[in-house]
Amino acid sequence: MPLDNAINIADLAARARRRLPRVVWDYLDGGAEDEATLRDNRAAFERWRLTPSVLTGNKQRDQSVELFGSRFLGPFMIGPTGLNGLFWPDADLELARAAADAGVGFALSTASNNALEQVAAIGAGTRWFQLYPWGDVSFASRLLERARNAGYQAVIVTVDTLTAGKRERDLRNNFSHELRLTPRVVLDGLLHPGWLANVWLNKGMPRFENLAEFLTPGATAAELADFTRSKRNPAFCWDDIARLKERWNGPLLVKGILSGADALRAREHGADGVIVSNHGGRQLDGAPASIDALPEVVQATDGRMVVLMDGGIRRGSDIVKAVALGADAVLLGRATLYGVAAAGRAGVERALAILRDEVDRTMALTGVRTLAELRARDILFPHPASRKISARSELAAC
Ligand SMILES: Cc1cc2nc3c(=O)[nH]c(=O)nc-3n(C[C@H](O)[C@H](O)[C@H](O)COP(=O)(O)O)c2cc1C
Repeated sequence: MPLDNAINIADLAARARRRLPRVVWDYLDGGAEDEATLRDNRAAFERWRLTPSVLTGNKQRDQSVELFGSRFLGPFMIGPTGLNGLFWPDADLELARAAADAGVGFALSTASNNALEQVAAIGAGTRWFQLYPWGDVSFASRLLERARNAGYQAVIVTVDTLTAGKRERDLRNNFSHELRLTPRVVLDGLLHPGWLANVWLNKGMPRFENLAEFLTPGATAAELADFTRSKRNPAFCWDDIARLKERWNGPLLVKGILSGADALRAREHGADGVIVSNHGGRQLDGAPASIDALPEVVQATDGRMVVLMDGGIRRGSDIVKAVALGADAVLLGRATLYGVAAAGRAGVERALAILRDEVDRTMALTGVRTLAELRARDILFPHPASRKISARSELAAC
């Protein structure tokens, strides 16, 4: 089926779902426990409506944004995700190339399947490195040194996974960082021959390549997965953020912030930016939707640090809403993963083009020309149904 038939992100998701075995799809798509936060990440966008503005005479819009000295052609970038090699061979490279071609940034996960140096070698593009604060200080220092040498411009420290979320789809599928070839998984693979030939028979189980140097040469994917599990460090704390900032000595963002108080703590400990995120609903189920947590963080930080957000972005209008609520830009998680899982680099290119087009249309229909104008104008209002609920609760309180 030609990719032009995918006219929105949901179409790419449907194609990805058909192509992937169930266990891989569940890893990509699932969330923690009852998946309430996962669902709310989407539902919360629906609770905001946009005010149209007509006959403005605007012929063109500019959706570009500058972040830490790099200009992105849209207020979005590809966020860090691990084990991308399960979706497509060399998926980290394909995602990074598509981002560079689209003129937006790419963040590489510590848990990538292409080594950070290999991704840097693609050349053009703005790349950030996402660090999991695993193990001791020497582990983080070594990865930061490699990221600096390879030309990564910023580092994201993800702080919401020091304790693993309870991802029940993965538990049911007996999946944790690696595919175990149970009869069910083998049958699942055979029923998805495209994926089987293109990923499994072609490359086998992808390894955490960034970590290979910490183990003996030739470590298997299973040994590297064991290594990541053994290195979780629940003792990591705010002072460690200050230490990392000192070592990195460049732009550092803390990812996994959902309150104004934590954003201010990040700032006190040297962070230049925060990413308002609940890890795509994969960690604390019951945490607020990211878009609901965003205004408090924007208010607390008051323009003194970069504020990004992620979680539930599937439409250009979601991106416009996030910027209208004060985000400098957003990160894409599943939106571009659906693309890469559906059709490799072409699928990612499609996802980025769809979102860019939808951002432009939404700006045109709401009558704004630039992101600065979008932030200054009050184009959002709560969905009438949610206003009724709050009016009723105010009455009840009287
Ligand atoms: C399959 C998958 C793997 C992920 N791996 C990582 C990771 O390695 N590091 C990280 O900081 N966040 C990781 N995340 C979280 C994303 O960076 C992001 O916060 C989340 O996907 C945003 O929600 P969305 O998918 O609804 O857009 C992962 C998310 C998914 C779906």
